[in-house]
Amino acid sequence: MTRVYVTRCLPEDSARLLQKDGINVVMRSTDDAIPRQELLDNIPGCDALICMLTDKVDKDVLDAAGKHDTKLNHLTSPSLKVIATVSVGFDHIDLDECKKRNIVVSNTPRVSTDAVAELTVALLLATSRRLMECANAVKNGDWKSWGLLWMCGTELRGSTVGIFGLGRIGIAIATRLQCFGVKQFYYTDIVEVPQVEIEDLLKSCDFIIINCALTPETAGLFNEKAFAKMKNNCVLVNAARGGVINQKDLYQALVSGAIKGAGLDVTDPEPMAKDDPLLTLNNCVVLPHIGSNTMETRTEMASLAVNNVLAVLDGKPLLTPVPR
Ligand SMILES: NC(=O)c1ccc[n+]([C@@H]2O[C@H](COP(=O)([O-])OP(=O)(O)OC[C@H]3O[C@@H](n4cnc5c(N)ncnc54)[C@H](O)[C@@H]3O)[C@@H](O)[C@H]2O)c1
Repeated sequence: MTRVYVTRCLPEDSARLLQKDGINVVMRSTDDAIPRQELLDNIPGCDALICMLTDKVDKDVLDAAGKHDTKLNHLTSPSLKVIATVSVGFDHIDLDECKKRNIVVSNTPRVSTDAVAELTVALLLATSRRLMECANAVKNGDWKSWGLLWMCGTELRGSTVGIFGLGRIGIAIATRLQCFGVKQFYYTDIVEVPQVEIEDLLKSCDFIIINCALTPETAGLFNEKAFAKMKNNCVLVNAARGGVINQKDLYQALVSGAIKGAGLDVTDPEPMAKDDPLLTLNNCVVLPHIGSNTMETRTEMASLAVNNVLAVLDGKPLLTPVPR
């Protein structure tokens, strides 16, 4: 029997794809992050792991995959062949350790691009037009009368928008923003696209949207030095990974007025602590990592992860291997 372990309850349509002769599926029944010990306890003897971005798959987990299974009371072989993460980002998986063990890894690119781009535009507008602050003012009884200058925000029309990381999602965001009358777009990427240096992007843009992967090069890149170069009216939006921004420096930049506002769909750590200073600021909008949260997209992502696993178990190559 081939054993597939799934760290969260998948949508019904995706889970059904796994119902095949010869496959023993162990799927958790809940939608909370699997406790680490539970993952370590369940990984021994598995042929495939379907995981989420909240599951750190490091050397210890991979070692455990091939260790003695005390419950079954026999030595399981290092049988793990494939890890399919239900996410675009794969910074939670130690790819080098996987390579050493011949374990192939897939992610779920493309299927979430539109949903994330849509959410990023919504977050940008919520931040630049101060939507949360306004809605709270109504709830709190602070809406005294129509105000000529009350709760004024900034608009996209005639602005310069910087896209940091012009990949799938970056392109989809730029495409959507075109109809808002943006004057010009600046792009920064590490691949060959018409682009500007990061310095020019920082100093010239009214809006900067981060869409790059979290890598050693991008970790903490948006820090005090970067904020000092940005325009005071700049609105920064991050729907990529929290680790790209130094959040302590961001807090200072928002308080001092070095930049105008920030919209974050991702934070470091996640979830953000309830008493995080950023949550005290009106010019910071924080969402709980909901970029791809539509039922349609989540089902497509889960089904793609399942199909990656089925392909490997069938001796075929991955449909969407992580880029190396
Ligand atoms: N908020 C969410 O729910 C959500 C959902 C999906 C993806 N994401 C994040 O968004 C990221 C982008 O997704 P995508 O599908 O567009 O991926 P992608 O690989 O198509 O695009 C990422 C781009 O970043 C560029 N890049 C990498 N390092 C860079 C650097 N040092 N400087 C500038 N550019 C750099 C890459 O060249 C690439 O073009 C993912 O890595 C993931 O972390 C978040």
